[in-house]
Amino acid sequence: MRRLVNKRIVIGITGGISAYKSAFLVRILRKNGADVRVVMTKNACEFVTPLTFQALSSRPVHTELLDLDAEAAMSHIELAKWADLIIIAPTSANFLARYAHGFAEDLLSTLCLAADSPVMLAPAMNQNMWLNKATQENLNKIKQWGIKVIAPSEGEQACGDDGPGRMAEPEEIAKFAADIFRTNILTGSRLLVTAGPTREAIDPIRFLSNGSSGRMGYAIASAAVEAGAEVTLISGPVNIEAVGIEKIIRVTSAEEMCSSVMKKINTTDIFISAAAVSDYTFQNISKKKIKKIEDTCQLILHKTPDILAKVAALNNAPFTVGFAAETENLEMNAKEKLDLKNLNMIAANKVGKQIGIDSEDNELTVFWGSGQEKLPLNSKNKLARKLIELIAFQYNEENSNKTH
Ligand code: C5P
Repeated sequence: MRRLVNKRIVIGITGGISAYKSAFLVRILRKNGADVRVVMTKNACEFVTPLTFQALSSRPVHTELLDLDAEAAMSHIELAKWADLIIIAPTSANFLARYAHGFAEDLLSTLCLAADSPVMLAPAMNQNMWLNKATQENLNKIKQWGIKVIAPSEGEQACGDDGPGRMAEPEEIAKFAADIFRTNILTGSRLLVTAGPTREAIDPIRFLSNGSSGRMGYAIASAAVEAGAEVTLISGPVNIEAVGIEKIIRVTSAEEMCSSVMKKINTTDIFISAAAVSDYTFQNISKKKIKKIEDTCQLILHKTPDILAKVAALNNAPFTVGFAAETENLEMNAKEKLDLKNLNMIAANKVGKQIGIDSEDNELTVFWGSGQEKLPLNSKNKLARKLIELIAFQYNEENSNKTH
């Protein structure tokens, strides 16, 4: 269940006897590297206590929609945005009905309405309630929206009945959740991603670099692995964990990044250049530490190769995606780069406080030949998944145009 590493998961607990099983679910998800927040309905609190889940998740449990303290810490909208996945386990017949009809009168139903991430249900109820036409109709309706449902199993029920309605076991729910992140939209394609800054040496101790954390590129590489692609990541010096990425080539300078990219490019279908490559490097690197003797010090810079433009200009260029970090005129500058560098796609982000370089969150506007799409402010992991969806769609379109 490696796909659960670093995933932000909201567990919604509704009122039912199987709520006790969700305690095991929280443990399993956390053991597999997920960050878990728990939301409980009023009825759920009758079966199990929020304290149990606070202890297991190491986070305060959310129970109220209109609780000033909880809203101040993280509003229900922020919580919905925070989540990579929402799992409602157990899902009661009552919650299913409210969800199917778009109610938003408590925290959990409001979260589901506000969610921009997948929602997964693990229903649990008495067999007659489960087999009731109302429940089955609600279920079918929800499934048509793309909501994933892990069916309850048959067997002895807490009420003494025997039949379908027992909540799936926590281990099965966790496996089902991990599989939601495997989309397979890029199965069979070979991706090359660059990430992080480069360092241009001045002398044996100093260098010229930038504040890129590498998070966006690493998130893209991880999302591409989840999408089924064979991924190679070429990374500048960063200090972050690579999740699920097996092939990483570490480089330091722009020149090294360029030659590593060029070595791999003939076996690449999609190239994503998320690295903040230095535009200039030093003409002469001093072999010894430069001493502070003179009042001024002149160093001559010369241009580094533009890796992205070089790749896009190849005869057999892969599908090429660039990034444009801009402080002003975002759209104009990004579109100009798309044309000038002859790219298939460009993801533009405005660099500012809390977004872009060296931050947790980002917002992107993606441009390609015939269209554009805004990916609003969100975690870099979630944005990366959305960007990979866009890339997969455009890449497949281009390929089918080529073959017709
Ligand atoms: O032209 P500009 O540097 O703003 O373009 C940014 C894009 O070009 C990014 O995708 C970056 O990874 C790439 N780039 C590159 N080689 C350079 C400079 C930027 O591949 N020397």
